[in-house]
Amino acid sequence: MRITMIGSGYVGLVSGACFADFGHDVCCVDKMQAKIDALHAGRMPIYEPGLDSLVAANVAAGRLTFTTDLAQGVAGADVVFIAVGTPSRRGDGHADLSYVFAAAREIAEAATGPLVVVTKSTVPVGTGDEVERIMREARPDLTIAVVSNPEFLREGAAIGDFKRPDRIVIGSENSNDGARARAVMRDVYRPLYLNESPILFTGRRTSELTKYAANAFLATKITFINEIADLCEAVGADVKDVSRGIGLDNRIGRKFLHAGPGYGGSCFPKDTLALLKTAEDFDSPIQIVDAVVKVNEARKRKMGRKVLGALGDAPRGKTVALLGLTFKPNTDDMRDAPSLAVAQSLADAGVTVRAHDPEGMEAARGLLPDAVFTGDAYEAATGADAVAIVTEWDAFRALDLQRLKQVMAAPVLVDLRNVYDRAAVEAAGFTYHAVGR
Ligand code: UDX
Repeated sequence: MRITMIGSGYVGLVSGACFADFGHDVCCVDKMQAKIDALHAGRMPIYEPGLDSLVAANVAAGRLTFTTDLAQGVAGADVVFIAVGTPSRRGDGHADLSYVFAAAREIAEAATGPLVVVTKSTVPVGTGDEVERIMREARPDLTIAVVSNPEFLREGAAIGDFKRPDRIVIGSENSNDGARARAVMRDVYRPLYLNESPILFTGRRTSELTKYAANAFLATKITFINEIADLCEAVGADVKDVSRGIGLDNRIGRKFLHAGPGYGGSCFPKDTLALLKTAEDFDSPIQIVDAVVKVNEARKRKMGRKVLGALGDAPRGKTVALLGLTFKPNTDDMRDAPSLAVAQSLADAGVTVRAHDPEGMEAARGLLPDAVFTGDAYEAATGADAVAIVTEWDAFRALDLQRLKQVMAAPVLVDLRNVYDRAAVEAAGFTYHAVGR
């Protein structure tokens, strides 16, 4: 199977490398010359565990190539995936589909034969209809089918998620072209299908909505446990035990029930907003997701106040060390990271922020111009009146508490990810603040 990926960002590159690893012949296209040059030189444009070796092996095997020339990439392809960005449009929160539509037009113009076009980008309901319309208008002579196949990859675990998915969702039209597309997609995913990953064939709009519903549900689950955490603090209960106690019920499930500083990243914040816009457009509001978005936004600032509270009555002039800046571990992604709101509320209160993150500091520098960036956790903690763990990187899970205490001005630990045991931290002489415990 000859597969072309339009867009070699996070989703396009991971998916392209994994498809090549399945034995398909894959060409990844991107407009950014610098990105393609880097890939040719064996450098990854993003940080994702295992991606560099996967790319290298498949390039060496001749199954994975890169180009900035879309027409060259599309010529002779059986399947073309659209994996370009769909950022939130400034001002109104709608997903910006201009890159998707531009790609559709260019693919149609470059096509040399019958084509299955797959939207992998997260796109609002109805986008497949518009992609199909654009392509048919550009090339009435072409046999095409437009399919929706959302990705469910987590940053930091993307390769594993791709190769062992809980499910594959494929949305197509109920037509002859649709039936042909389903057969082609079955071939594309055959290695997974043979591994018994469920493959779900649905209508195209259903598939598009499934992606948003999945992310909105997960965001709701996190936000639910975060509010329960606050209640735990108020009544003297322990949210970790509540989470375990409800999560062991199979109907609820244990995953995505960890209380923390609120969800961030490139998907949940953007996709919940886009879902609300769709709901509004179709006059079918989803109040529960509306509440989730508001509660999560407020929570990030609330976490800043929590850290300030740990500094006592007069925080002005004090120093806080933030450990972990990215929205979660094993990524360099700073998008909508709770650390940004925490750092902002500290700065607003006249507190100096020192910070360390294993992978995110380059991206963080531009976003936190007043912070002092340091080489490791202990350097960040030097002279600090409190240390706050904002992201649960492994490097922060087993800190040498005695060493930490020695370099700090005051031994205060604010654990926004609940990775420490209160008794152990207090025994080391610290004042300990957790979330919901
Ligand atoms: C998510 C979805 O999981 C994935 O299926 C989708 O395709 C893209 O969006 P990602 O954004 O990479 O993936 O990260 P994820 O691991 O899902 O975490 C999202 C946010 O939720 C992070 O900020 C994380 O810290 C937070 N989170 C997650 C919690 O606060 N508690 C939890 O229990 C789980």
